[in-house]
Amino acid sequence: MKDPAHLITLFDLSSHEIESIFSITEDLKVKFEEGHRDELLPGRVLALLFEKPSLRTRVSFETAMLHLGGGSLFLGDDVGFGKRETVADFGRVLSAYVDVIVVRAKQHQTVVELARHSTCSVINGLTDEAHPCQALADLFTLRERFGSFTAGRLAWIGDGNNVARSLAIGCALVGMPFVAAMPPGYELDPQVIADIQSTLPQAQIAVTNDPREAVRESIAVYTDVWASMGQEEEKEQRQRDFADYQVNQTLMKQAPADAVFMHCLPARRGLEVTDQVIDGRQSIVVQQAANRLHVQKGILAWLLGTKGRSGR
Ligand code: CP
Ligand code: NVA
Repeated sequence: MKDPAHLITLFDLSSHEIESIFSITEDLKVKFEEGHRDELLPGRVLALLFEKPSLRTRVSFETAMLHLGGGSLFLGDDVGFGKRETVADFGRVLSAYVDVIVVRAKQHQTVVELARHSTCSVINGLTDEAHPCQALADLFTLRERFGSFTAGRLAWIGDGNNVARSLAIGCALVGMPFVAAMPPGYELDPQVIADIQSTLPQAQIAVTNDPREAVRESIAVYTDVWASMGQEEEKEQRQRDFADYQVNQTLMKQAPADAVFMHCLPARRGLEVTDQVIDGRQSIVVQQAANRLHVQKGILAWLLGTKGRSGR
């Protein structure tokens, strides 16, 4: 990685770098559970810019920075991001003050532009194209659960959206087989699949329109909302198009008995997943959300750590 290092999509990381982040995460999580908070980033400051709502990403990053001995600034509308000056000028100035920026933007290009002009690290906190920090927390959770990434396959059921893309790249990087079952017209961007296959030729990635085929022999069944933030107007059409892609008990019965159910949350209960599944014995959605805190610490400590990837 070049300095400053940014995390815009998981293509910014190598398998080895993911392993380094997870090893820091593991160490910090064990210490945290023993009641110890390792203050690895004293005096460092994180700025958060959010153009869309957030519970998990915002609070886990802010809390992570506090636990690491640093501070965080949640920047509201008054800073006029995207309104008072160019994104380039905004990035040049904000990065002169803070050590790292987490940004959730309506347009993926906004994050790319902000990173291009910032002299500190920029982390993508979700765009329509990517949600890299979510996928890292999910992979970490899967390894905690199964002990390795090669224990079995992850089945994505539903929309070929930001989370699906990041998981597809993440699985390829860590060596976990990935299959996606999506309705016609909502498939993963073929360019993302082509990019995965050209960068990581050993990747095991499959696509289908049949959810039952996908969950058979998969150890994790993952779904997300049918209409993401910004797609509210398509909600009704999508409910019709995704009707056969609900993760319910009938579908879960097709998966191995020890398969887990995953969701990045927030969920639309009764649509993409039933109460019985999300509240059932196979669901690990709360562990996933809880691990966001620990993995954010791993990401921050790795980016801002002694090796100076942040450019500071
Ligand atoms: N999963 C996730 O990113 O949740 P938030 O939108 O609440 O941050
Ligand atoms: N795909 C969802 C993820 C939310 C965390 C969205 O973009 O709204």
